[in-house]
Amino acid sequence: MTPRIYIPRDAAAKAVGAEKVAAAIKAAAARRRQHIEIVRTGSRGLLWLETMIEVETSAGRIAYGPVSEADVPSLFDAGLLIGAAHPLRLGRPEDIPFLKRQTRLTFARCGIVDPLSLEDYRKHGGYRGLQRALSLGPAATVEEVTKSGLRGRGGAGFPTGIKWKTVAEAKSERKYIVCNADEGDSGTFADRMILEGDPFVLIEGMTIAGFAVGAAKGFIYIRSEYPDAVRVMDQAIGIAREAGYLGAKVAGGSFSFDLEIRVGAGAYVCGEETALLESIEGRRGMVRAKPPLPAHKGLFAKPTVINNLISLATVPVILSDGAAAYADFGMGRSRGTMPIQIAGNVKRGGLFEAAFGLSLGEIVEDIGGGTASGKPVRAVQAGGPLGAYFPVGLFDTPYDYEAFAARDGLIGHGGLVVFDDSVDMARMARFALEFCAIESCGKCTPCRIGSTRGTEVMDRVLRGERREANLTLLEDLCQTLKFGSLCALGGFTPYPVLSALKHFPEDFGRDPLNAAAE
Ligand SMILES: Cc1cc2nc3c(=O)[nH]c(=O)nc-3n(C[C@H](O)[C@H](O)[C@H](O)COP(=O)(O)O)c2cc1C
Ligand code: SF4
Repeated sequence: MTPRIYIPRDAAAKAVGAEKVAAAIKAAAARRRQHIEIVRTGSRGLLWLETMIEVETSAGRIAYGPVSEADVPSLFDAGLLIGAAHPLRLGRPEDIPFLKRQTRLTFARCGIVDPLSLEDYRKHGGYRGLQRALSLGPAATVEEVTKSGLRGRGGAGFPTGIKWKTVAEAKSERKYIVCNADEGDSGTFADRMILEGDPFVLIEGMTIAGFAVGAAKGFIYIRSEYPDAVRVMDQAIGIAREAGYLGAKVAGGSFSFDLEIRVGAGAYVCGEETALLESIEGRRGMVRAKPPLPAHKGLFAKPTVINNLISLATVPVILSDGAAAYADFGMGRSRGTMPIQIAGNVKRGGLFEAAFGLSLGEIVEDIGGGTASGKPVRAVQAGGPLGAYFPVGLFDTPYDYEAFAARDGLIGHGGLVVFDDSVDMARMARFALEFCAIESCGKCTPCRIGSTRGTEVMDRVLRGERREANLTLLEDLCQTLKFGSLCALGGFTPYPVLSALKHFPEDFGRDPLNAAAE
């Protein structure tokens, strides 16, 4: 049997030299006149171990990492091709604690399969979800998604089944499915990993959505910063079309569905669903006032399902395994699993898919291993640039939509950005306001003007000018942003600002004891 080596082609692995590792392995094998087969995969999501390669052995796959180009000769000398001992040998990937502790449903295939092999996809359970949906019929498919308890993974956590039902019931000769893969949140990369590592799961999820609500066309909106993802997705769409999984009579059924990709132009606000629709329609990404909701009047004024990529990519496993099996995971109203993305100053950064309910402390300290710098963790920003900063004192918060909301926090798209004790939280508060000023679409006054005024106020606080008066002004301004903004960009910017002020008052020149008593 020709030895087979799996090497990720994911952008995160490429960033640390995966292409050089692949070339070095190819060259080393050629020098030794050894036939090998190299399979390029997505990433398993253990980013601190990239480039993590795996070799197929009689005992299953054996992983090595982090491998650099320079390690390749010694790996071959040690017996890489039979999975022999070497300082970089990690053993069976599924036994690595970071992977072993996960519940991989949405990411079941990512890092394992060849992303562009339909055969591999089907061998690993692909297209079972669509088959079941076709046998259930559209209404029962929507019902199944509702019963699974799946909530939107893009930010707001809105129940996906209810959104689909609204579009299914809308009367229109044309409807659309839009996948939001703008992934602008800091520290997030789950959408990218699926696009690059398991693109057919998104195609299947969108096809099921189209079947369920009566839409024949879908658009995938991908951020321009993801050129590899655009390329892989584009190829995957071509392969699926060729195989009859897209186009007329999908999978031999009686309905049609096809997909197109649209590439964004680098604006955070274009991840907001209505700005995204404007952008697809060829206009500047400005937020639309709601109502009407996109479910009633969305893309090209037609009823539109707009979902985050992870929401759509989770639909196939819900359909194939059943709603009850999915809903069995999780806690409270947060059902199923969440691909948590652990980033920032953290020792073991990566993607960790788990049922809702782990505590924030467990995720950061235990799974993430604390900071990469070795200093104590001081703060974690959860849910992207509009999410609150959590101090270590709140690390008992369970990873659950309601528990986070009760502490003025946000699960959002599942990003966690870790900071050590060298962080200046007053500067982070200023950064949140400046980010809002830069990214504001300019449609409403509180956000357009308020974010700039807020940045100026924070500058005065940082210079120590009339601190208390300026902090009072800042709090007042935050109330205006929170309640007067048209969308969550302006509306949620106060959360990082006020959480920084509340939990780290000393960084703003306030006495922590007095601030706590207030
Ligand atoms: C400023 C802003 C940026 C957003 N960026 C994204 C994004 O990058 N990806 C995403 O899926 N949702 C993003 N959202 C949320 C979307 O508006 C929308 O709620 C989501 O796409 C709906 O899909 P879901 O129900 O599957 O989460 C953003 C919202 C706001 C206000
Ligand atoms: S809050 Fe900001 S981004 Fe949202 S509509 Fe208003 S100006 Fe645009």
